[in-house]
Formats: sequence, structure tokens, C-alpha cells
Amino acid sequence: MKASDSLTIRGKVIRNRITMAPTVKFDYAGPDGKATEKHIDHYRERAEHGCGLICVEATAVSPDGRFWTNHMGLWSDDQIEGHAQIAKACHDNGAVVIVQINHTGISGNPELGTVIGPSAVPTRDPKVISKELSIDEIHRVQGLFVRAAVRAKKAGYDGVQLHGCHAYLINQFISKKTNLRCDEYGGSTENRARFGSEIIRAIRKECGEDFIISIRTAGIEPDVATAIEIAEEYVKAGVDMLQVSTGIEWEDDSLKEEGEPYNLIVKLGVKFHEHFKGRVPVSCVNSLYDPSVINYLFENDLVDLVDLGRPILADPAIVEAVLEGKPYVRCYDCPNCQYGPFMPHKCPAAMRRGVKFE
Ligand SMILES: Cc1cc2nc3c(=O)[nH]c(=O)nc-3n(C[C@H](O)[C@H](O)[C@H](O)COP(=O)(O)O)c2cc1C
Repeated sequence: MKASDSLTIRGKVIRNRITMAPTVKFDYAGPDGKATEKHIDHYRERAEHGCGLICVEATAVSPDGRFWTNHMGLWSDDQIEGHAQIAKACHDNGAVVIVQINHTGISGNPELGTVIGPSAVPTRDPKVISKELSIDEIHRVQGLFVRAAVRAKKAGYDGVQLHGCHAYLINQFISKKTNLRCDEYGGSTENRARFGSEIIRAIRKECGEDFIISIRTAGIEPDVATAIEIAEEYVKAGVDMLQVSTGIEWEDDSLKEEGEPYNLIVKLGVKFHEHFKGRVPVSCVNSLYDPSVINYLFENDLVDLVDLGRPILADPAIVEAVLEGKPYVRCYDCPNCQYGPFMPHKCPAAMRRGVKFE
């Protein structure tokens, strides 16, 4: 396999194997959660440089499911227009584009509403205990995801990605640390995956057969075998693509590096690819700054797609560097890019290539 090979999912031809990972731009949206010109330009630029599949950043399915007030949403019809412009900017430049939809759950901000979760457990402010969702409330929150997906389709996106990792709501249903339920949404892997699986089925019903449904899921929770069992439930529900990252627990020391030129998070994606090969495309992510390593992954058939977060924020030309060996500015792996609403995101690599930050 080569990075330049195309891949067709649900009739959409992805022109190469490079994906932009969802990376939220906290300073771009206002409290109304609408996409801005900055978002449109940001995604257009990544498409112009040849990125095959763009996954637009975590987008809240309800105001209380935001990270912070300046965070994009798809909870209301008046947010569709801005997303339509992002989708058009990507399509006009040859990329397939999906949007990540999310609810923060117990990782939410108490200032934005009651912090909800699968169970009553300490939240990111240990003095605040989350409110355990009743079965009716679970169905209501699942409906928020489905309606956000319907809006995404109306905006012209090719699909959605469910945010099922990084300790947000769908992931909180998976981990036994945050899901203490004894009903049909807790206990067995099938039950813990039910929250996400039912959302997948409902989105397929509402958005149709030509709509891509991807899930970003934990490659280890608490071990790789269990994480794969969970992903099998999502596949049974009809998911088209698995993007593998991290979750809440990591209790598996069988993954030691054996001189591989990539880290253990990428290795989770490699393990998933081994398991799902030929059935469901799998992508991997994390610290893939070097075109040679990215090409190594494809040449050795270790993954189907490679997601780039910080490297493509630093310089979208990394796509042309992978595909054509052109020059690019390498991500500095610096603390400026830490994930948080108050970080300035003044990327020194981008500044080196002439980007001016306010
Ligand atoms: C500024 C920033 C914003 C991020 N936003 C999201 C997000 O919206 N959704 C998500 O699933 N992960 C998010 N992440 C995680 C990235 O998608 C990615 O998994 C992580 O940065 C590791 O990949 P990288 O080394 O290619 O950056 C974010 C990371 C950064 C640095």
C-alpha cells in the first residue's frame, strides 16, 4: 500500500491515505458555537495541500456538552450554515470531510450546566459529582448526537465521527471506572458499548446509506483485547471506519516497543488494523511528524490511514511531503499546542512559515 492510494468509503473517494485528525480551535468560535471565517480558511488550507480526509474538530451536540464557551456546535439549525461553508471549502479542494460530534459528559464544565455521566462519579472538579443519567435521559442525549448528525448531513458533510475516546461521554460508558451501572448500559462489553452502538444505528437510519459514520475509539480500555471487543460492537452497529487513539485506562504492558519507529499509541492502531484488516479501515495517530515514518506504516501494510493532528496544524504541506517528498516545516512538539481553552496556540512552526497570530 502507498500513501497516495485512494480509498472509497460509502461511495466517497478519499484521494489518499492522509487524514486530518480533529483538533479543536478554541479561539475561533464564539459563545453562539457558529463556525467562523477563521474555521473556513483553516480547513480550506488543509484541503488545498492535498489532505485526503478532513475530520473537523470536536463539535458539541448540546451547549452543556461543550469544553468551554468558545467551542463550535451543531446543536441548533442556525449553526448549519457555517458548517456548510467549511464542507464546501474542503470539497472545492478535493477533500472528503466529516465532522467530529461530542458531548463532554463528566469532563464537562459545571459553569455550562449540570455535569452528566453514566454514573455518579467525581468530575474534573473533584468536589462536583456527576449526575447519573436515567434511561430516559440516556435516550435524550443519544438523540442530541443523532440530530447533530442530521444537521451535519444538511451542511453537506460526507459523514460524522463520534468522539468515542479521550474520556468524553461515549468513552465514559466504556470504562468501568466511570460506568458503574448495573442495567443494560453497564457491565458486559456489549452493554457498555450500547450507548455508542445505538447512536450509530440511529444515525444510519436518519442519514442514509451514503453517509460515513466513523468512531474515534480507545485502542486500550483497559487492555487492547477489550478495546477490540468494544470496537466489534461498533462494527456490528454499522460503523465504517475506526480511528484509534487513547481512553481512560491503560493496563496492558504487552505492547512494549521492539524498535518500531512509532510510539505505543500508533501501535494501538497497528493492532486494530491487524484485527480488522479487510473488514473496516483503521487509522492511527500520534506524533507522526516524519514523512519517512508515515510511509513506513503504509509500505509495511500496518494501517489503512494516518491521522495527523499537530503536524498538519504546524504545516499543511506535510501532506505533499509524504506524497511527493516536498519540503515542509516540522512540528516542534512544543508545549504551546497543549489542549486547553486558554492556550494561545501560537505555533512556532507555523510562524516560521509566515503565519501571523493575533
Ligand atoms: C490543539 C489540539 C486540539 C485537539 N482537539 C481534539 C479534538 O477536537 N478531538 C479529538 O478527538 N482530539 C483532539 N486532539 C487530539 C489530536 O486529535 C491527536 O490525537 C493528538 O494531538 C495526537 O496526535 P498528533 O501527535 O498528530 O498531534 C487535539 C489535540 C491538540 C494538540
